[in-house]
Amino acid sequence: MTFPLGLLGVDIELRSGDARNGIYLVDHAPVVVLDGVPFRLSDPTAYIGACFDEIVASFAEHGRLDDALLTLAREERDRAVHDPFIDASAIAPTALDFTDGETQGSPARFDPDASSPLAPLLEAIRAEPLEAVLAKWVGDLPRGDERTIAELGPGAGLLARRLATHADTLVLADRSLRALLTAGDDLAAELCIMDADWFGFRDASLDVIIAQNVIDLLRAPFAFLEDVSRALRPGGHLILSTPDPWAWRGEREVLEQLLSECGLTLRRFEDDRLWLREHSPRELQVFRVQLVCAERT
Ligand SMILES: C[S@@+](CC[C@H](N)C(=O)[O-])C[C@H]1O[C@@H](n2cnc3c(N)ncnc32)[C@H](O)[C@@H]1O
Repeated sequence: MTFPLGLLGVDIELRSGDARNGIYLVDHAPVVVLDGVPFRLSDPTAYIGACFDEIVASFAEHGRLDDALLTLAREERDRAVHDPFIDASAIAPTALDFTDGETQGSPARFDPDASSPLAPLLEAIRAEPLEAVLAKWVGDLPRGDERTIAELGPGAGLLARRLATHADTLVLADRSLRALLTAGDDLAAELCIMDADWFGFRDASLDVIIAQNVIDLLRAPFAFLEDVSRALRPGGHLILSTPDPWAWRGEREVLEQLLSECGLTLRRFEDDRLWLREHSPRELQVFRVQLVCAERT
């Protein structure tokens, strides 16, 4: 599958290589494509320079490493090292996201004995996990022709797997390649490396944007809402959840105001869903999460 670059910009020009492993200019900004995955970042070469080992390892883990990919990735890494105008350290925090926790979902499922006081709590949360609720919210939206859904920050892809049936085109965008390739395994989805703080989708190109537990990690959540609004088609929807709604202090009225300043109207709001993260059989986290659905009006 090669990514539909028209979702990223209008003016698309292949500068070198080919659609599988090549360098494009998208609205004059360079986009490096490795094995069909565009690196839509403020500086893709810096990212490849900073995360070269993790990138190669991630493609290899998913059986997607070949000579053409390795050659282009090495060229970009060497350019990042030798070009004085490329600052690979500026992108370094991104490298921290190549962690197992984010990319494996809940790797350590804990099933307590029926007599454990935790049993009813875990059973209740698992009966309707957060990703099932969010997928249902998507399913409840009116559906037109050729619906394009973008999920930002899919992690291991627990939600993405539930979105596939709701989309004609499903795009997954994460700044961690390891997470992205895991999320995209065995799924008919288009994958894109993107930093949600440097939003790279074309204006009015998406019908639904969904971000489960990502907005609280961003440097600039207000700018993110503006970017999302621009990228949605009129009548399109943003659906998000967050365990830490600091951007609106957890208050619905503040959220409504913020959204309306961005051209979005709050359509659905829910508090106190529980999000379970299992790090080990002895380390379980449960977050109180807010859910939001807003329409581009
Ligand atoms: C807390 S995890 C949530 C994963 C999944 N959505 C879930 O709820 O289980 C955050 C995800 O967002 C990604 N992420 C964090 N900051 C990001 C950013 N600025 N741009 C794009 N993705 C980001 C991480 O790599 C990770 O996959």
